[in-house]
Amino acid sequence: MTTTTTPVVAHTREELKAAREALPSRDVAVVMTMGALHDGHAHLIRAARQRHAHVVVTIFLNPLQFGPKEDLSRYPRTFDSDMEICTTAGVDVVFAPTPDVVYPDGDPGVRVAAGPLGEVLEGASRPGHFDGVLTVVGKLLHLTAARSAYFGQKDAQQLLLIRRMVRDVDFPVDIVSVPTVREPDGLAMSSRNMYLTDSDREVALSLSRALRAGAEAARLGPSAVRRAAREVMVEEPLALVDYLVLVHPHTLQSVPEWYRGEALLAVAAKVGTTRLIDNAPLHLGPDGGAIDVFSDVPHARADV
Ligand code: PAF
Repeated sequence: MTTTTTPVVAHTREELKAAREALPSRDVAVVMTMGALHDGHAHLIRAARQRHAHVVVTIFLNPLQFGPKEDLSRYPRTFDSDMEICTTAGVDVVFAPTPDVVYPDGDPGVRVAAGPLGEVLEGASRPGHFDGVLTVVGKLLHLTAARSAYFGQKDAQQLLLIRRMVRDVDFPVDIVSVPTVREPDGLAMSSRNMYLTDSDREVALSLSRALRAGAEAARLGPSAVRRAAREVMVEEPLALVDYLVLVHPHTLQSVPEWYRGEALLAVAAKVGTTRLIDNAPLHLGPDGGAIDVFSDVPHARADV
């Protein structure tokens, strides 16, 4: 019989420090969240749990990464069920601060600048978003003093920028990525899926269908991938596409037709009132296919 222990909940910096110091080992991994936890988060937590003595989960709805017209006020807040997921997944400490704990002086005058990589794709539609993400991730890495931090591949641009920040300014932490977790019908798990009506949800499936179609054309090269993915999105006019791109996974620049190797097929679209993103890491070339996204497509591989 497995026993589960309710995690210690820390709301302040002092409580977090005390909870961390009470852990028997310094081998701590962190999983950062904005709450509204789902199976994708549980998967991240389990991956961290397998490799580390302790897991700290942060639950903080970071105002700095939301634009004035974005969904901060309606973002789902589900603390009780978040705690159930953390308990079942074996989390040791939950850090759930309020904004005044994270930003004691109000809006921070100094922020982490994401730079050019933060201005394309998501950053083009959400100016300042990644500065807000990196600023809070940097703070939470310091406050939790974790050895490793686990992030989902679903937010591929965020993951890339966090890796760059950690390398560029020498944070002493390993960043581990975990493949996107999907519903049985292919929809990528996201806290924002809670906003979708039944009919929105049908429309939303076009994103993963487009990625799958693109992945299946990977051995034919970039234009075949783009064409296959585009054809799927065109068939679903209720999904308002912001971008559908095939880019290099490190530069986020469009890959030329001659390019073979690793690439990222990424999509963002508005479905009803909800902006959804999804992506598929691909290998372009004769034996190409999806990397770690669709298990029945060749080249299944994962970091974890
Ligand atoms: O991916 C998220 O949920 C957020 O961007 C993160 C990393 C927790 C920072 O607020």
